[in-house]
Amino acid sequence: MRLLRTLVIAFAALSVVGCNTDMWVQKKSAPLSESEFFPDGAATRPLVPGTIPRGHLREDGAFYTGIENGKWVDKIPVAITNDLMKRGQDRFDIYCTPCHGRLGDGKGMIALRGFQLKRPVGNYHSDRLRKMPVGHFYDVITNGYGAMYSYASRIEPQDRWAVIAYIRALQLSQHGSVSDLSDPEKAKLDEKVEPKKEGAEGEGH
Ligand code: HEC
Repeated sequence: MRLLRTLVIAFAALSVVGCNTDMWVQKKSAPLSESEFFPDGAATRPLVPGTIPRGHLREDGAFYTGIENGKWVDKIPVAITNDLMKRGQDRFDIYCTPCHGRLGDGKGMIALRGFQLKRPVGNYHSDRLRKMPVGHFYDVITNGYGAMYSYASRIEPQDRWAVIAYIRALQLSQHGSVSDLSDPEKAKLDEKVEPKKEGAEGEGH
């Protein structure tokens, strides 16, 4: 019992010491607040004339907005590489599949489970969206669209284009035809696949 009492007293003493707020209640000026220190009465100093913010100059309109000369761009403004496609698949699977599904057909788990979306989730394989310029997709990801909210805070511009490249591949995957194949690939279609011999695998069942 005495041990317990000692512990309680020690803990109480520590808490009192812990409540010392000297370190964070100290004299300081919040940004853009008033101050008596400077003659102009403001705590924040004005920027030196001619100051240019670095890293925020978004001159490349097509890349940052998906729009050029007032129109949605028709061509993805980054190099399409294998790595970009993989990155696009990765980001798409994380951010878009919950609603749009792995195929982009609008059958994501959220849509299937009846989550009350105001409007049905878009199906990328409609004629309208297959013909839609890539700039529109960029706009949808950046600013949202109708019932869908913006993904700008979660997907960087470069990754938005990667997602769009992957969406284009998904669209192609659902509308391929035999004439898209090379001759050796077509030949493979005619190859006879030997049926598995009955019983060879099933023995003993
Ligand atoms: C929380 C569910 C949800 C997620 C996640 C989601 N979307 Fe959507 N999306 C919607 C809904 C709902 C619509 C239909 C909006 C409408 O018509 O009002 C839509 C529509 C669209 C459309 C069709 C726009 C048109 O012109 O009809 C595109 C393209 C699209 N989404 C792309 C994406 C991409 C790319 C992602 C991932 C970065 C994504 N969405 C993630 C719910 C979602």
